[in-house]
Amino acid sequence: MIPFVDLKAQYHSIKPEIDAAVIGVLESTQFVLGSAVLAFEQAFAPYCQAEHAIGVSNGTSALHLALLSAGVGRGDEVITTPFTFIASVSAIDYTGARPVFVDIDPASFTIDPAKIEAAITPRTKAILPVHLYGRSADMDPILEIARRHNLVVIEDAAQAHGAEYKGRRAGSMGDLGCFSFYPGKNLGAYGEGGAVTTNNPEYARKLRILRDWGAERRYHHDLKGFNYRLEGIQGAVLGVKMKYIEGWTESRRTHAVRYDELLAGSAYDLPITPSQLRHVYHVYAIRHPRRDALQAFLTERGIGTNIHYPIPVHLQRCFAELEHKVGDFPHAERAANEVLSLPMYPEFQPQQQDQVITALHEWAQQ
Ligand SMILES: Cc1ncc(COP(=O)(O)O)c(C=O)c1O
Repeated sequence: MIPFVDLKAQYHSIKPEIDAAVIGVLESTQFVLGSAVLAFEQAFAPYCQAEHAIGVSNGTSALHLALLSAGVGRGDEVITTPFTFIASVSAIDYTGARPVFVDIDPASFTIDPAKIEAAITPRTKAILPVHLYGRSADMDPILEIARRHNLVVIEDAAQAHGAEYKGRRAGSMGDLGCFSFYPGKNLGAYGEGGAVTTNNPEYARKLRILRDWGAERRYHHDLKGFNYRLEGIQGAVLGVKMKYIEGWTESRRTHAVRYDELLAGSAYDLPITPSQLRHVYHVYAIRHPRRDALQAFLTERGIGTNIHYPIPVHLQRCFAELEHKVGDFPHAERAANEVLSLPMYPEFQPQQQDQVITALHEWAQQ
């Protein structure tokens, strides 16, 4: 059996440090926020080349608070991609704003900047690009359009810890960056976790207040806030993992190069990554028109795969109110039918990868 991800292998590789850090929180009784969370925030901000990092309860609350701190609310529109995890769009919906979709560039799976301006209206307040799979969206044209139309840019970097675009890190390019530390993410907590990064001190102040019931002074609630605090144990776990994230990212990139090389010239479309990007391969997705048959074959061989994502958000039933139909965003729809995510995690062994590659070649020759 070759799993899609193996969280146990990573835990066992750092177990003594993690166990000590968790016990430290238990002894300190700082279960919610506290010094372990603060120390993690102070390490994560420079890692993202950002001035501030604010730890929150998960990636979805990070997006929700980032939108609120930027003033997005009822009557506004936010431009984003339909080819993402539902949370990117649900967070916009939570604020009362309307999500407005722009199709992806099929070569990158990220929002196509050339199609953004046609979607801008007087109600547009923000653009929310998603660095899908760990590859940065094409940020320069997005930032230029935002500047010209006075729009806020909120990066969904939930899958892109340490990803770079022309030397700039995910979470440092837009006005705000949003991260998830869901256990399977490149930087994963042992439970739920998230963070918002920003270089704007006013946003940072507002985010700290909003995550903790809108009160700067206890029981003095100046804003309508939320219980979106990061837990102490998660802060401690993430603090330990900060020491390893660069090594783990390089391992992912090495596995990706090996997939690239050993699948070159095969029946599969492979991810294409320009050299000016540092792709961090949260997901290594290949494409094939007969994806479902391929996935069934690999499952039979004991190889774990996944589909990120089988239904683009504009066709999800929960967003039927947006009145989209099949054909509205053809590149996203085609990608949803063709992508298949292969096993990818830092501890993935070359012999395991060889088995995946052999199975892929075998299926293609049938
Ligand atoms: C692109 C994207 N955005 C947002 C989220 C939401 O993060 P969380 O699950 O931590 O709420 C995720 C991950 O789940 C994601 O992949």
